[in-house]
Amino acid sequence: MGRPTITAVIPAAGSGSRMGAAVPKQFMELNGHPLLDWTLAAISQADEITSIILVTPPDDVARLTGKYVENARWPKITRAIAGGTTRATSVYNGVRAAETEWILAHDAARPFVSPALVRRTVEAALRHGAATAAIAAHDTLKTRDGDFLGESINRATALIIQTPQVFRSADLIAAHERLRHEGKEWTDETSLLQHAGIKVAWVPGEAANMKITTPDDFRMAQVMAERSPFVKGPARI
Ligand code: CTP
Ligand code: MG
Repeated sequence: MGRPTITAVIPAAGSGSRMGAAVPKQFMELNGHPLLDWTLAAISQADEITSIILVTPPDDVARLTGKYVENARWPKITRAIAGGTTRATSVYNGVRAAETEWILAHDAARPFVSPALVRRTVEAALRHGAATAAIAAHDTLKTRDGDFLGESINRATALIIQTPQVFRSADLIAAHERLRHEGKEWTDETSLLQHAGIKVAWVPGEAANMKITTPDDFRMAQVMAERSPFVKGPARI
């Protein structure tokens, strides 16, 4: 009905160094299911998403293809491919493997994304060309100057950027190829797209859509997981 099909690219190739656990955080169990399963189940629930490309640590491609692609429980997951040494490269690899005009990139480490947030982000991107979820900062914000405080940051105009991030595949590929030689570390796709001159809209994200980075985050996520029904397959149970 005129609505484009959208591929979700899920970067899950990180090593979880700030978590410091025995396995990368995306494979740690959250209330009995790997964190990655929570994220894939949540993204599978979104009607706008027609296929999912999982970007995995290079050594895990075969195992995770068996687990997620060759398995009727995850019908939208079409491929598992090897990530790179940075998040930006991992997403770029996923985008290049996708066949749709539009991409939704979402961190494997954000397991509680809602279908409503996917929809909001997609709608804003289709209207404006690119969009991300973001939330207003509520704490006072400062820069850091060693052991001391640096400058005060105007909280009224500050945003904390989340994923999902939705953009055109061709825009991301062009930006990546033009800018990768600058040697910057892009922590998300909006930074790269903006640097390439593309305007990115934002929609209100959700506090529950936290990125699980540290052991503290994981403890909070465990409490949330205990209160959330785990979605086992394509249908919500
Ligand atoms: N990621 C990726 N490829 C990389 C680095 C990160 O696919 N080379 C993914 C992670 O698996 C995660 C998301 O990008 O789902 C966000 O990154 P982050 O939270 O920084 O995860 P890690 O890089 O694994 O953690 P850390 O930075 O603490 O090592
Ligand atoms: Mg990282």
